[in-house]
Amino acid sequence: MNYENVMKLALERGFYFPSCEVYGDAQAGFWEYGPSGVGLKNKFLELWRRELIRRDGMLEIDGSQIMSKSVFEASGHLGSFADPIIKCTKCKSTFRADRTIAEISNIEIPESADLTEFDNAIKENNIKCPKCKGDFENTRKFNMMFKVGIGPEEEPAYLRPETCQSIFVDFPRLFKIMRGKLPLGIAQVGKSFRNEIAPRQSLLRLREFYQAEIEVFCNPAKLDEIERFSEIANTTIRVQTDSEPVAMTCNEAVESGVIPNKFVAYYLGILTEFYERTGIDISKSRFRKLGDKEKAFYAEVAFDFEVETTIGWLELVACNYRSDYDLSSHAKKSKEKFEVMDNDEKVLPHVFEISMGIDRSLYTILEHSLKDDKENDRTVLSLKPYLSPIHVGVLSLVKKDGLKEKTDEIYFQLKRKFDAFLDHSGAIGRRYRRLDEIGSPFAVTIDHQTLQDDSVTIRMRDSMEQKRIKISELDSLLSEITAFP
Ligand code: GLY
Repeated sequence: MNYENVMKLALERGFYFPSCEVYGDAQAGFWEYGPSGVGLKNKFLELWRRELIRRDGMLEIDGSQIMSKSVFEASGHLGSFADPIIKCTKCKSTFRADRTIAEISNIEIPESADLTEFDNAIKENNIKCPKCKGDFENTRKFNMMFKVGIGPEEEPAYLRPETCQSIFVDFPRLFKIMRGKLPLGIAQVGKSFRNEIAPRQSLLRLREFYQAEIEVFCNPAKLDEIERFSEIANTTIRVQTDSEPVAMTCNEAVESGVIPNKFVAYYLGILTEFYERTGIDISKSRFRKLGDKEKAFYAEVAFDFEVETTIGWLELVACNYRSDYDLSSHAKKSKEKFEVMDNDEKVLPHVFEISMGIDRSLYTILEHSLKDDKENDRTVLSLKPYLSPIHVGVLSLVKKDGLKEKTDEIYFQLKRKFDAFLDHSGAIGRRYRRLDEIGSPFAVTIDHQTLQDDSVTIRMRDSMEQKRIKISELDSLLSEITAFP
């Protein structure tokens, strides 16, 4: 199923929809999650916490979304977090230079290239404004941070463009009060904000978006001394350093030098295992090594975790070895101490970052899980049961003869523990199909026999198989099937 199918599902079944929809002045790049989207997002994050945060005993914080100017002077975002843009001299429309050039002439120029490279490509290929065919002004940089004014004096501050800056500035306190020990992972889930020139494709390029970021602080002299490497040594990852992704074990990736050390390979391994459990087709994934011109300004080595969808490869996670770039910049500007003790050695930790885009991950899970079951004339969202916004639909075959009351009783009992959905009305086949589309792995139907022997029909989403079980067996069956791995 493709982008349009996912979009239709998202709008009709409450996964996501545009923000401020009833007004004509709503700005692009802002979307809201409906109840099904929130359910999926919360469960995705629970899986993330289980597979990455708790697995390694990481710390999680929840920092401010508005941060001071000093933070972004030190981080380099005020100077370097900018996109190349071009403005039409005639209609005054503005475009991202790299994308417009790629769309019109198929020439790929990295966004961090010299501005003259864009101007030369425009001139040599006679590229004109896509709206009015006018000429472009010279390319210039546009800073993507949203500026805000604090208090009556409107002191300048910024909405964070990445969640991790609070992790860096909080590091000395956290290391001390939490009795930290290197390597130490600190994580944060929350919103970030970027004033994109051309937001597009719903959740795929937003101005306000969710990140789940992990920053692992480590001793740079010990990048091959990671104790838990053996856990993922035989995990297969797909790495692309050239034109095609190549499948290899984490061990092979380190031995061959494709991944620089065991430390980085360990996190690429556990990240792959995490995404496998989300139901994304991992054979369509790759860790793509970024060239010097593609890397973010703070990254020494960077691998993007990308997944193939019907609209191309999507970057879901940026894995950046940021070295001591952030801690040394904040130490210099704040004059605070960021070094810590690693046994008897004083070190300024290096950072490896796993920066996950939640919205894009959810889109990809939806696309890879959505099936067109032509044989049975239905659309099925085959989500992993533990990620499904609804665990179980509870349906009365008919409302009369006391079946409504019995159905309500079972529903109230189940919903204390599971995400249950009650539905009394409409043809039963149509009710099953609605649950299939929302990804509910089960439906429980209450009929006249229920009143006689306390049994119900359960119907499985994927196989459409139906069987009768006792009401007393429902709890353990649902617990088993909807449990996290
Ligand atoms: N912290 C890395 C990023 O936001 O891309």
